[in-house]
Amino acid sequence: MNREFTIFTGTANPALARTIASKLGAQVGACVVDRYPDGNVAVQLLETVRRKEVFLMQSTSPPVSDHLVELLALADACRRAGCARVTSVVPYFGHGRADKRNGRREPIMARVVADLMEIVGISHVITVDLHTPQIEGFFHAPVDSLTAVPTLCQALRDRLPANVVVVSPDVGRVGMATRYAQCLGAPAVVLHKRRVSGVETQVTHVVGEVSDRSCLIVDDMISTGGTMAESITALLNAGARPEIIVAVTHGLFVRDARKKLSHPAVREVLVTDTVCVPERDWPQLHVITIAPLIASAMEKLMSDGSLGELY
Ligand code: R5P
Repeated sequence: MNREFTIFTGTANPALARTIASKLGAQVGACVVDRYPDGNVAVQLLETVRRKEVFLMQSTSPPVSDHLVELLALADACRRAGCARVTSVVPYFGHGRADKRNGRREPIMARVVADLMEIVGISHVITVDLHTPQIEGFFHAPVDSLTAVPTLCQALRDRLPANVVVVSPDVGRVGMATRYAQCLGAPAVVLHKRRVSGVETQVTHVVGEVSDRSCLIVDDMISTGGTMAESITALLNAGARPEIIVAVTHGLFVRDARKKLSHPAVREVLVTDTVCVPERDWPQLHVITIAPLIASAMEKLMSDGSLGELY
């Protein structure tokens, strides 16, 4: 590494920031990230950043708007304090599902977030498993879009039953499921999902053979758990063994997601720590750290190395 750098974190996942910093032989920089009595975000850097490379760690996980504003405030403070470059490390990119208008007079919030980040001086973004790759194109700034698939595959190798098929819960995740399938040497199956509302989905077809097979369902995120619950039912109805493993990058677990995933057929649920998982006492849940992947991306960025192999 040949540049002086500082890492600051918002309140979304300070534990991940500390792990990443320690992998880079550093500590998280001192700063205040708080609230004024009226709820406005209060940020102050407690150390100099002049001419330094700055990394701002913040997943825009729930509460999404609060975490986003903290990130914007930190970036503005760094830019005004004369840092050399601000890179935001956003392991989970909130608003990622709002990536098109769907013809219903809706905003494209992923694009709005990209614009806001650039306006406050963020000139580079590192993120993990974006909901859709086109979000990268919403930025003028370079975006290093990493994937947690190899990290999760490594954790899955010793846990998978024989005869497993990788299941994509919808057509949007076929690319990701194919990567898992290649990495694990297993066949892939696709479910045809119809979204009824923000919390309700319906699986209409199982495309591929799951009869008497164990299933590994993969996805970018679990939000309310509705997609997973529907997928589990559809697979069991199609004759899959009651031996289901779930692997997703971002475990948001909002509303009663845990209840939906606590199905007797679900053996294990693997997520990464892109989002701070508040769930406790859930023996099936395993949180696999993404810190080595992000730390090595930051290292390569600072040494001007290629990040190609991390994508
Ligand atoms: C959808 O396109 C995503 O890849 C996930 O399947 C979905 O967002 C998960 O949401 P939920 O857990 O609320 O069904």
